[in-house]
Amino acid sequence: MGTAIDRFDEKARRTFDSIGRTEVHRGELLRHPVYTRVLHWAVALFFFLALFTGFGIYLPWLFRWFAPIFGGGPLSRILHPYFGVAFVFFFFLQMLNWLAPMLWGPGDTKWIRNIRRVVSGEETLEPPDTGFFNAGQKAMFWEIVVGCTVYLITGIVLWMGARTFGALAVAISYVLHDISAIIMLGGIFIHIYLSTIGEPGTFHSMTRGVVSEAWAWTFHPAWYKKVTGRDPREDYEKARQRQNAPRGPN
Ligand code: HEM
Repeated sequence: MGTAIDRFDEKARRTFDSIGRTEVHRGELLRHPVYTRVLHWAVALFFFLALFTGFGIYLPWLFRWFAPIFGGGPLSRILHPYFGVAFVFFFFLQMLNWLAPMLWGPGDTKWIRNIRRVVSGEETLEPPDTGFFNAGQKAMFWEIVVGCTVYLITGIVLWMGARTFGALAVAISYVLHDISAIIMLGGIFIHIYLSTIGEPGTFHSMTRGVVSEAWAWTFHPAWYKKVTGRDPREDYEKARQRQNAPRGPN
């Protein structure tokens, strides 16, 4: 994909790498460079700002105590679309950044069919063809792409109002905007759980930018194989044997 997107993304990556730093120690692999991390946290920040100002507009009677944080109800209403546009803007850059590893492959359909075994933990390692992102991560990513498109279209209709677009368009936009928010919020809860407690070792891929090799062979074996040239299952077995081996006097 030697396209304009690649060139843009590569340039941004280089610029951010010259500003920030990522230290990769022995036994670790680079997962997310500085540019990706900055985009991700900008996306998360504006997502929550839009969400919290949105709460005050959606359910003012329930979130009355919440709106003063943003200067009261009317100011929340003014700020919300700006936060929303910033969220969509940063996610658009994130989409360009992650487009290639997020493309759907035949292994992903198999992963989805196999989801019960993955979730129940019957298998210690993810299926061998799980690459940089697994199918669950890809599904959430594409759900956000669709969600952002819905937010943008319906958000503009709600922003400009019935005088520009008519009462029916505004009424439909309210419903679609809110459905999209509820679906995305559900996905984000699962995402935050999996990125922290659910799959230990994942969180610092978005802070320090690195993961341990053990994390990589467990959750993304095909990516591990690609970047190290080694067999994930073999390295996992070797590490297990080392751990179980009786220790000497020193
Ligand atoms: C405080 C909340 C959040 C935490 C702790 C968090 C953490 C992370 C981490 C650690 C990763 C890297 C996963 C990997 O390398 O495999 C990641 C990826 C990602 N994050 Fe977040 N994130 C948060 C909020 C958000 C929000 C609000 C969005 C979007 C609305 C978002 C969208 C994504 C996407 C699309 C990915 C790539 C796919 C995936 O890993 O699921 N994140 N996040």
